[in-house]
Amino acid sequence: MFHRAVFIGTTLLASARAWNTDVHNQIGFMAETFFTPQTTSVLGQLLESQYNGSVGRAAAWADAYAHTAEGHFSYQWHWIDTHDAAPEYCHLDYTHDCAKGGCVVSAIANQTRILRECIGQVERGDLARGTNLTCSYALKWVAHFLGDIHQPLHANGRAVGGNTYKVIFGNVTTQLHAVWDGYIPYFAANVSKPFSNQSIDPFFSDLVTRIRRDQFYSAPYLWLSCTDPSTPEECATSWARESNKWDCDYVYSRVRNDTDLGTDGYAVGAVPIVELQISKAALRLGTWLNNLVQGVQSVSEEQEIIEL
Ligand SMILES: *[C@@H]1O[C@H](CO)[C@@H](O)[C@H](O)[C@H]1NC(C)=O
Ligand SMILES: *[C@@H]1O[C@H](CO)[C@@H](O)[C@H](O)[C@H]1NC(C)=O
Ligand SMILES: *[C@@H]1O[C@H](CO)[C@@H](O)[C@H](O)[C@H]1NC(C)=O
Ligand SMILES: *[C@@H]1O[C@H](CO)[C@@H](O)[C@H](O)[C@H]1NC(C)=O
Ligand SMILES: *[C@@H]1O[C@H](CO)[C@@H](O)[C@H](O)[C@H]1NC(C)=O
Ligand SMILES: *[C@@H]1O[C@H](CO)[C@@H](O)[C@H](O)[C@H]1NC(C)=O
Ligand SMILES: *[C@@H]1O[C@H](CO)[C@@H](O)[C@H](O)[C@H]1NC(C)=O
Repeated sequence: MFHRAVFIGTTLLASARAWNTDVHNQIGFMAETFFTPQTTSVLGQLLESQYNGSVGRAAAWADAYAHTAEGHFSYQWHWIDTHDAAPEYCHLDYTHDCAKGGCVVSAIANQTRILRECIGQVERGDLARGTNLTCSYALKWVAHFLGDIHQPLHANGRAVGGNTYKVIFGNVTTQLHAVWDGYIPYFAANVSKPFSNQSIDPFFSDLVTRIRRDQFYSAPYLWLSCTDPSTPEECATSWARESNKWDCDYVYSRVRNDTDLGTDGYAVGAVPIVELQISKAALRLGTWLNNLVQGVQSVSEEQEIIEL
């Protein structure tokens, strides 16, 4: 397998095929704002004490783990490589595209099933304070992979998910995958250093406000059309297809390698896409975990949680 690294300024970020770690934390903090009190309390019992019950703080663990010898088997669970031809033709076929050993869709399904059993253990009083690592890992993987699956280049096989596609961003030579993992989120938020890994950043709390006020061009309740954790392959495939479609509609159709993507309009045009994908990831993660803890909610109950 390829071992890749992303440089942003002078910071070496250990992971290459994932939103930057701090973006994962922020998606988790956004999702927490949609949790019911019961979800917060049950999930808090699954995590090891170092996370202080916070899914957001735990949401970046999977990248570090994938880069250990022990966790290397999970490295390929962070994406699905399609066999299509962006930007001319985008198509994702779960059965054909999911690699032997697993992909982001199968990993979401597998860990969701494990997580459901773990939640049952907490509810019966058989598990507390992160003492079952299978359970803690399942929650941390689900929180992480629902983020990854919304990054367009985690659902595309061209140029190893854009990792071998060289581009220029802000005078720096980098690759397209890194542009979508980090450069564009930082550009969108107008920040020059990583986001907090301890609490929600204003850029992301503004996205939560926009979700609650229905200020996206597609209504947030429509993002929840597949959020029943008992059909995880179906839901995760539909989310991956949305990501994959962006590869034809923008990521590869507008990219250039002879101009600076930070100033030629590419980054500006990418901002609403990144904001939408991050917001979908967070709302779906919050809803997915609520549904696992207390059963699938009706559309009106989901609507109430959004608008709270
Ligand atoms: C841990 O969580 C509790 C309850 O949410 C909070 O009051 C406390 O400040 C947190 N501690 C740390 C170290 O973040
Ligand atoms: C499912 O999860 C278990 C526990 O994490 C892991 O050992 C197994 O390899 C996974 N299977 C698949 C197909 O992902
Ligand atoms: C941990 O949780 C898993 C998943 O529910 C379960 O199969 C396993 O038996 C648990 N381990 C212990 C030691 O309770
Ligand atoms: C890129 O380099 C040019 C020329 O050195 C400089 O004027 C410009 O400010 C730089 N842009 C960024 C985003 O650093
Ligand atoms: C971005 O931040 C810089 C400095 O932090 C500030 O001067 C600038 O006005 C900001 N730009 C936007 C569009 O908010
Ligand atoms: C959180 O961020 C701080 C400061 O940016 C860093 O020192 C620390 O290692 C980070 N924690 C994790 C778990 O990544
Ligand atoms: C830029 O893209 C063109 C066409 O895709 C390719 O032939 C060329 O080698 C690329 N240039 C660089 C510097 O990567």
